[in-house]
Amino acid sequence: IVKKASLFLSAGLLLSSLLPAQLSVNAIVDGQNPAAVISRHIYGHFSEHLGRCIYDGFWVSDTLQVPKKDRIRLDIVEALKKINIPNLRWPGGCFGDEYHWRDGIGPRKDRPYMVNTNWGGVSEDNSFGTHEFLELCTLLKTEPYISGNVGSGTVEEMAKWVEYLNSDAKSTMTDLRAQNGRKEPWSVKFWGVGNESWGCGGNMTAEFYADQYKRYAVYARNYRNAPLMKVAGGASSSDYNWTEVMMKKVHVNDMWGLSLHHYTIPTGSWGKKGSATAFDEKEYFTTMKNCLYMEELVTRHSTIMDKYDPNKKVALAVDEWGIWTDVEPGTNPGFLYQQNSLRDAIVAATTLNIFNNHSDRVRLANLAQTVNVLQALVLTQGRQFLLTPTYHVFDLFKVHHDAKRLNVAFTSPLYKNGDAKIQALNISASIDSAGVVHISFVNIDPNNKISFRAAIPGVKWTNVTGQILTSAKLTDVNSFDKPENLKIQSFANAKKEGSDLVVELPAKSVVVLELR
Ligand code: AHR
Repeated sequence: IVKKASLFLSAGLLLSSLLPAQLSVNAIVDGQNPAAVISRHIYGHFSEHLGRCIYDGFWVSDTLQVPKKDRIRLDIVEALKKINIPNLRWPGGCFGDEYHWRDGIGPRKDRPYMVNTNWGGVSEDNSFGTHEFLELCTLLKTEPYISGNVGSGTVEEMAKWVEYLNSDAKSTMTDLRAQNGRKEPWSVKFWGVGNESWGCGGNMTAEFYADQYKRYAVYARNYRNAPLMKVAGGASSSDYNWTEVMMKKVHVNDMWGLSLHHYTIPTGSWGKKGSATAFDEKEYFTTMKNCLYMEELVTRHSTIMDKYDPNKKVALAVDEWGIWTDVEPGTNPGFLYQQNSLRDAIVAATTLNIFNNHSDRVRLANLAQTVNVLQALVLTQGRQFLLTPTYHVFDLFKVHHDAKRLNVAFTSPLYKNGDAKIQALNISASIDSAGVVHISFVNIDPNNKISFRAAIPGVKWTNVTGQILTSAKLTDVNSFDKPENLKIQSFANAKKEGSDLVVELPAKSVVVLELR
């Protein structure tokens, strides 16, 4: 009998180690105390003169047979309008600190060529400049976010650009604008004062940049009806000293935001970053660990800012983030073209949940970069065009734009790989102006589903609907042959039980629920 029992036991143990574990979570979604509004500007994007983002991305040749306004590609515009992109950052990035805006205005045939030294050494014909970018923003119904040149520009050059854009009084600059076809000012609000000034933007120390910021910012004037929201160049990842120095040296009334740049590198090494499509579970695990590091970065930079700015006047602007992999084989290494898989979707959704949960301080963010570069939303090949899994995450999460955040209290199950562990589940929730609650879940664990149950005090709801993004493999992508391999599907595994919300979250999935 003992022998049989022990055989039975070891067979059971063997079976349970082969079967997926049952992970369950009990949570409270606090509908009684809505917290800070989740600014829609957390859902911003970035378009640099880099690779095929602008040229052969947004801005195509006259001869390409696609719907266009001037040379702006309208299928891209339509797709981005659908996800309500709130702002678009331009012209860089590193390019921004070598860009001289006067080269990009006036008759296109007369515009000078320059070498794009940062990105592939290619010739830039300046055919896409200020007027073209602002026309793109008008078509997208989005706020422009312009990054001015501190690294190789002058205070006067930046001051004149702002005047050209925003003044309605007669001057040489506004006459020039009118001569170039635009009488009314554009009233650009978001204004970056340099980019990565610790690196490609001039190799400065934090102390030197803080003084430069103050100089440039004084002369970037607020014109009638066009107060600028100035974003100071901020830290790279964990450079907490940069944030400390900026907060100490620049008065909180003199900057709207302070930026932070952080990229998720799958291997964690800038040398061999890892492939966008050929990775194993171990590399997926490291990618997600590196992605979750954003929580620590945002928390620690915010804590430093709190010391100098307890009322949280200055926004933390994460104006470059995303996954950065090796380029697709055979493509120009300077063009940063990478594919986009289910893993990218999970990175995007996890990062957006982190930003939502820090909505009191993080009030602007820009994924790098919109089209054909890094973690893109849209990939193009000639006339062909596809929406990436990351695009679908922004589509799912748009329900959080400008809604009030709800706190979610829960303990996440762990996703283990060898001896290492990370939190398997991340969540954010919000309530919109119509009283509709949205909850976004990411189950990072590729092997186990999670059973979730929550009480939602303070919210009256009767009905739950949902949408999901997932796929058979983490490496699955949308390709030009199969552009809809991954797409949003409706999700039925959520219900009301008593007053609780009960959900079964599939492995490696992004789920967004709506409670009415
Ligand atoms: O997004 C690509 C580059 O990454 C940007 O030009 C730069 O700001 C950052 O280092």
